[in-house]
Amino acid sequence: MPTTSTNPHLPFGENKNAEWYGKDILSVKQFTRTDLEYVFGVAHEMRGMVERVGTFDLLKGKILANLFYEPSTRTSSSFTAAMERLGGSVIPISEVKYSSVSKGESLPDTIRTLECYADVIVLRHPETGSAAIAAKAAKKPIINAGDGVGEHPTQALLDAFTIMEELGRLDNLTVTMLGDLKYGRTVHSLARLLSQFSNIKLNYVSPDILKMPKEVMEEVGAKGVPQAEFSSLEKVLPETDILYVTRVQKERFEDPADYETVKGAYVIDPEIMKAAKQEMAVMHPLPRVGEISTDFDDDPRAAYFRQMEYGLYVRMALLAMVLGKA
Ligand code: NCD
Repeated sequence: MPTTSTNPHLPFGENKNAEWYGKDILSVKQFTRTDLEYVFGVAHEMRGMVERVGTFDLLKGKILANLFYEPSTRTSSSFTAAMERLGGSVIPISEVKYSSVSKGESLPDTIRTLECYADVIVLRHPETGSAAIAAKAAKKPIINAGDGVGEHPTQALLDAFTIMEELGRLDNLTVTMLGDLKYGRTVHSLARLLSQFSNIKLNYVSPDILKMPKEVMEEVGAKGVPQAEFSSLEKVLPETDILYVTRVQKERFEDPADYETVKGAYVIDPEIMKAAKQEMAVMHPLPRVGEISTDFDDDPRAAYFRQMEYGLYVRMALLAMVLGKA
């Protein structure tokens, strides 16, 4: 949410009339197709700048609080890298056990604290809806970096940017999502986001107990997107343009015995991929725990490492946008 200052010199230099200035990023539902094109345009420019000059001063003097209540490698370090490549700095709180959270401090109080010191807060939390609770407590922008099994909007934005950079289009695609579609928040966000584009077909391949949640399917269905569920990949792999593989989310199972029945259900390897098109991409939000064989990593269709890099540019774009610099 926007902060107002009576002193015209503070805070300096941001465009408060910019559309995304001061906004929270909580869900992909906030992004229209035009917004997405804008984000991708800015991300593309960020890529060019990083390639040409590495680091520059667009967000000099700005501070990001990176608050992670759940483990993270890519999301937290790419937000840190994004802020630092833009000349800003970061308060990292990834070991909440060393913060006042371990003394029983509530999420709203922790957020109110951090916004005294930071201009924007990135939050990952195990509970669905936590980012919205944080945003209610905060005057500064909150960016949802994963709220339990809910959403992971910045991941979906970088996933869509990856599809654009890899295949050159977001329309006319058959996207097959594979693995843990029940607990995987990245696929919940990505399915919603892709439903904005034309001629999209979504295939969901999962074990029976890990199917895509009904509410996501209803939302996507309401946009007129055909969706089909399968338990095996065989039938849909040949028509697939994007194969989006996910990890079985062990930490979210109520009964560990259920995890044992589905772990290792699907493994992508060079042999299986013989049935896929040559012009397609295999994506994964990572970390992988065996769903994609390392033998496939050198295949040109393996896009998951490039996908991580694209995440940096998208997060640079989002930080610049909510801080009124894009
Ligand atoms: C994902 C997440 O945290 O939801 N990771 C990520 O942000 N790249 C996927 C996962 O943990 O499996």
